[in-house]
Amino acid sequence: MARRPRRILATIILAGPCIAAAAPPPQVASCAACHGANGLGNAAAGFPALAGLPAPYIEQQLYSFKHGTRVNAIMTGIATSLTSAQRTAIGQYYAALKVPAAPEPNPLPTGPGATLALNGAWNHQLTGLPSCASCHGPYGIGVGAQFPRLAGQPKQYLAAQLTDWQKHSRKNDPLHLMRNVAGKLSNTQIEAVAAYYAALAANPTALPEPGAAKGAK
Ligand code: HEC
Ligand code: HEC
Repeated sequence: MARRPRRILATIILAGPCIAAAAPPPQVASCAACHGANGLGNAAAGFPALAGLPAPYIEQQLYSFKHGTRVNAIMTGIATSLTSAQRTAIGQYYAALKVPAAPEPNPLPTGPGATLALNGAWNHQLTGLPSCASCHGPYGIGVGAQFPRLAGQPKQYLAAQLTDWQKHSRKNDPLHLMRNVAGKLSNTQIEAVAAYYAALAANPTALPEPGAAKGAK
């Protein structure tokens, strides 16, 4: 008789930490309306995907919205209430969400956006524009904790970020790498390169032979 409650108690104690570790931070329930329950964003509305982005990158963006080095009417208000510990937990939560694997479009997008992304424009304004792929990886899949994925993000979102760097309303990037890149882009180039990355798979099943992807690694 007396054994049963003890066993139940032991089960609860053993299961406790697992349940706590798996539980999403409570704040993310409110993020889902725009970023999706699976963190995949909303292309039609221009809300970026957060799933699979590096945890330190997400954390840094939330810090930047709160402290005004990245300005957005919606996100500034949301980030203001988040504490440092909450930003860390949210970053870890979204970084761990899986992006479904899908093949790259066949044929791959070509044209000025693809050329800029893969080869840069070295004679541009005499100072040279490095390829986007040299930092963001082949086909924009992202590199490490610093260089976020661009592939599959909404076109208007990508274009808006480049314009925000030109206007200096986003100025949180390490070493001003993106401010320098964006400052050299024309509106036509922004449109073209944003369309290129928006068309690519966020988590490609297989990377096509690089071929033109010079400098990509
Ligand atoms: C009402 C819609 C909305 C809600 C709710 C919302 N977001 Fe956002 N979020 C946006 C928009 C729009 C952007 C793009 C901002 C920009 O252009 O700079 C964004 C951008 C972001 C980014 C930057 C992504 C990147 O790739 O740099 C992060 C991180 C983020 N949101 C996290 C959150 C979190 C965490 C929550 C919940 C606590 C949340 N958002 C709730 C609309 C929303
Ligand atoms: C020298 C390295 C470097 C090069 C070259 C580079 N980027 Fe970036 N890019 C970065 C870094 C670092 C970040 C993250 C900035 C931050 O932490 O706020 C970034 C972020 C971005 C973002 C924001 C992504 C998001 O989710 O909000 C966009 C859009 C972007 N880059 C587009 C481009 C395009 C297009 C090119 C080529 C024309 C390019 N980048 C070339 C380093 C680079």
